[in-house]
Amino acid sequence: MSSTEALPPIDLGPAGQYPEGQVFRVSAEDSGWNDDIAVVHAEDGGFYALDDTCSHEAVSLSDGYVEEDTLECPMHASAFCLRTGVPETLPALRPVKTHQVTLEGDRLVLHPGTPRPDTESGE
Ligand code: FES
Repeated sequence: MSSTEALPPIDLGPAGQYPEGQVFRVSAEDSGWNDDIAVVHAEDGGFYALDDTCSHEAVSLSDGYVEEDTLECPMHASAFCLRTGVPETLPALRPVKTHQVTLEGDRLVLHPGTPRPDTESGE
């Protein structure tokens, strides 16, 4: 079962277990979302989440690289803005969806299907 609608939040455990500058994958099976989700602990200390499948080809962005405020695809190096999901470099042209991540106490909570409030993709 998979959804394109907002789903119940998922407790990802203590935020402290996710090192800065790293990306982690939450499986579609675990979230119920229609794609895996790449969760990033960025170098600015913030947490971000994007659809895991690159909008250029079917490549997992969670195998890519956190570069400042972007997640870079491991295949052709399109860099997706962590806040908006919009690719800032070619060859990808379409944004990937964003998902809200919140801190509740010391716990990291993912909200699959709920876009970040400052997202531009909004779809
Ligand atoms: S597969 Fe991601 S940029 Fe080409």
